[in-house]
Amino acid sequence: MKHRISEKVTWVGKVDWELQKFHGEEYSTHRGSTYNAFLVRDKKNVLIDTVWKPFAREFVQNLKKVIDLNEIDYIVANHAEIDHSGGLEELMKEIPDTPIYCTGNGVKSLKGHFHQDWNFVEVKTGDTLDLGDSKLIFVEARFLHWPDSMFTYMTGENILFSNDAFGQHYATEMMFNDRVDKAELYQEAIKYYANILTPFSPLVTRKIEEVLSLNLPVNMICPSHGVIWREDPLQIVNRYMAWADNYQENQITIIYDTMWEGTRKMAEAIAAGIKEADGEVTVKQYNMGRNDKNDIFTEIFRSKAYLVGSPTVNNGMLPSVTGMIEMIRGLKPRNKKAAAFGCYGWSGESVKLISEALDRAGATVVDEGIREMWNPDREALQRCREYGKNFVQKL
Ligand code: FEO
Repeated sequence: MKHRISEKVTWVGKVDWELQKFHGEEYSTHRGSTYNAFLVRDKKNVLIDTVWKPFAREFVQNLKKVIDLNEIDYIVANHAEIDHSGGLEELMKEIPDTPIYCTGNGVKSLKGHFHQDWNFVEVKTGDTLDLGDSKLIFVEARFLHWPDSMFTYMTGENILFSNDAFGQHYATEMMFNDRVDKAELYQEAIKYYANILTPFSPLVTRKIEEVLSLNLPVNMICPSHGVIWREDPLQIVNRYMAWADNYQENQITIIYDTMWEGTRKMAEAIAAGIKEADGEVTVKQYNMGRNDKNDIFTEIFRSKAYLVGSPTVNNGMLPSVTGMIEMIRGLKPRNKKAAAFGCYGWSGESVKLISEALDRAGATVVDEGIREMWNPDREALQRCREYGKNFVQKL
């Protein structure tokens, strides 16, 4: 399949409607994904990125229908992760001497993945590649989100090939942002940012400021997943600036796991107290044992505060809770207040352990949390409700 993107640029990637999990089993992709690769035709022809490895043969076969492979003068590998470099092995069997332009870290990563001594050309920020009427300008984007990541800007048509940045795991044949449902698009875009880019937020801000300071006109942003930003392309850049800046909405998220419904009842009573104290704040509740962890983290990313609940089991918390807090620790959302809650029958350690884990995860823990013994009765639930009211005052 091919799509015309502009006079000189053709999309030659793959729409993966079936994908449900990405990064192994680590990232849920409810709406599939795309692996975007682009063919630039000028006096010199360039292929920018490839597709994920399972689609390598299909990719090369399709590419042959678009261009005689021997007419590809250069390959640009903006990023070595195999969802973008996975077609290289198959392609390089056909055109083994074609130069591959990438960063120094890209050379290391590509060699690390494929153990091949291809014709690498190492580039740095500001290096250019003349194509005839247009040229490519390379911009290193270290740690957005791997050390090797790079943007490539094409003059003339004013296109930024941003690789993972500004992407979404969103399968669609519609290709452009102005042709898809905006709510779906932004749900996938913020989920992508939250789950992949949050740890690198300070770098996101600096890189965007650096690119904007070049005053390059941008007609389109072509990320390597999801749709191309054609209508008001800088809208996603502005969203990234907001998401990278201690982002929060007027939302409190309550996440918990529960064995015999006691901790769930506490969650609901706390939520009721919050709503009683503040009718404007959005309160959302998720059972960590049942809901998708990437979706939950997206909600935490959007929140100004969150509460984490678990009953005490085996002198600790439930494993789903341990895993979620570890995920929060790794992704490092900033500017979040938090607290713990949970019920217990005898030893009752969970609330203290959750509070300590939240502190280590970078949250501002506002108090010692609340725990209730056995199945909370009416009075216990009233205490939870009061706790929720007081929690709002601490934000
Ligand atoms: Fe889409 Fe970092 O790979």
